[in-house]
Amino acid sequence: MNAHGPIVAVYPGSFDPVTLGHEDVVRRTLRFSDRLVVAVAESATQPKGHLFPVAERLEIMREVFAGEPRVECVAFSGLLVDFARTLGARFIIRGLRAVSDFDYEFQMAQMNRELWEEVETLFLTPDVHYSFLSASLVREVASLGGDVGSFVSPVVLDRLRRRYS
Ligand code: PNS
Repeated sequence: MNAHGPIVAVYPGSFDPVTLGHEDVVRRTLRFSDRLVVAVAESATQPKGHLFPVAERLEIMREVFAGEPRVECVAFSGLLVDFARTLGARFIIRGLRAVSDFDYEFQMAQMNRELWEEVETLFLTPDVHYSFLSASLVREVASLGGDVGSFVSPVVLDRLRRRYS
């Protein structure tokens, strides 16, 4: 809470599936925000084939963050800034793992600011143990029968096993 009221942040992404890296970013955001809306995008800027449909990604996220009363998981379509505005969220959270993330993230942040000049994008670096981790690698390793148990929550692991069994 500050002089302007509660600090509301939105953490958008594809989350296909949510990884321990994403969970780490959520926990770090809760250190300085009052409410965090984790927003599962129905369509992403970089088109990708999804493993889990948006409804299932959302269901998984809600299970993963069930113990965090300040975290709300929702799906959104359309422009992120429009969605953030309806929430009263002026802070967009994105994880930044490595320099290779920078171009894409910088472009999105600048475009979002063009679209709504009051919005601020905050980049958080995850714990170093997750700096190599991505949802796409988790999908690939899981699809080839590899063990992803140290990269995702048990809830997610269970869904991946069912998907690839
Ligand atoms: O996890 P991802 O796929 O990197 O997340 C990308 C996401 C969903 C944050 C981005 O594609 C997005 O904001 N999509 C919503 C549509 C939008 O606002 N596009 C303009 C972004 S500059």
